[in-house]
Amino acid sequence: MEHGRVTMDRNADAPWSKFDPEVYVDNNYRTPLDVDLLIVRLMRDHFGRCFADGVPDSVRGVDVGAGANLYPALSMLPWCEKVLLLEYAQPNVEYLERQVSPEGYDPVWDAFWEVLREAPAYRDVDPRARCGEIVRVERGNLFDLDGQRRWEMGTMFFVADSMSECPEEFARGVRCFMNALGEGAPFAAAFMKESVGYRVGDHTYPAYRVNEERVRESLEAFTTDVETHDLHHMVRPGHEGILLALGRRNGEVATP
Ligand SMILES: C[S@@+](CC[C@H](N)C(=O)[O-])C[C@H]1O[C@@H](n2cnc3c(N)ncnc32)[C@H](O)[C@@H]1O
Repeated sequence: MEHGRVTMDRNADAPWSKFDPEVYVDNNYRTPLDVDLLIVRLMRDHFGRCFADGVPDSVRGVDVGAGANLYPALSMLPWCEKVLLLEYAQPNVEYLERQVSPEGYDPVWDAFWEVLREAPAYRDVDPRARCGEIVRVERGNLFDLDGQRRWEMGTMFFVADSMSECPEEFARGVRCFMNALGEGAPFAAAFMKESVGYRVGDHTYPAYRVNEERVRESLEAFTTDVETHDLHHMVRPGHEGILLALGRRNGEVATP
């Protein structure tokens, strides 16, 4: 204990108010990576399978920790009456508000829509118009989702693993997300595998190191039929790939 760090960066300690969405988009999405296009395809097909027998009335979707990424929201457009983007960092909230404003989202997201519209359910959707109509942004903390508010489908991309170094906060993040989903709700969640943290511009953000087993363990109380994909794509130094979990929320009462 004398050598090295003895404290862990908790979620509340990270410089979220300094998060730079444009730099984050430059680093991650401006040039679409094969792995993101693959994720979009897998998520699109998962949602298509979940709704193959019909779409229930009034499906509301949520993307938790949406940050500067619009593709999870785009993937929910054909199925939802409303989509909420919940995000904590104020600069990201402002970024998202611009994306869903009447001017329409930035061209950077077109490449992801191109993959989505290969599936029939997406083909007749005008994504910019629909985003403006049904997508709303809310500043909020994932940890405040206590099961009182529930959505019929949801996504959480690189959040529970990329917000804190603490194992309890990772588990709590997954739990809060899953508790925000109603019984049977289709979901997609992505995690950086074995991430040691990440930089956005001049600031460093914490991560909790997960592997496929930890992800499966964290989800097992909430879903019976999760499929996990271990995608061996490296997007930067300091992680070992990406894990994508696709499933449906079970009907169990979740532990508080
Ligand atoms: C690595 S980024 C992922 C952003 C985006 N979902 C993506 O796929 O690229 C982590 C995101 O989690 C958000 N975040 C951190 N702590 C949060 C909290 N307590 N509640 C909600 N969002 C949080 C950050 O602001 C940031 O947007």
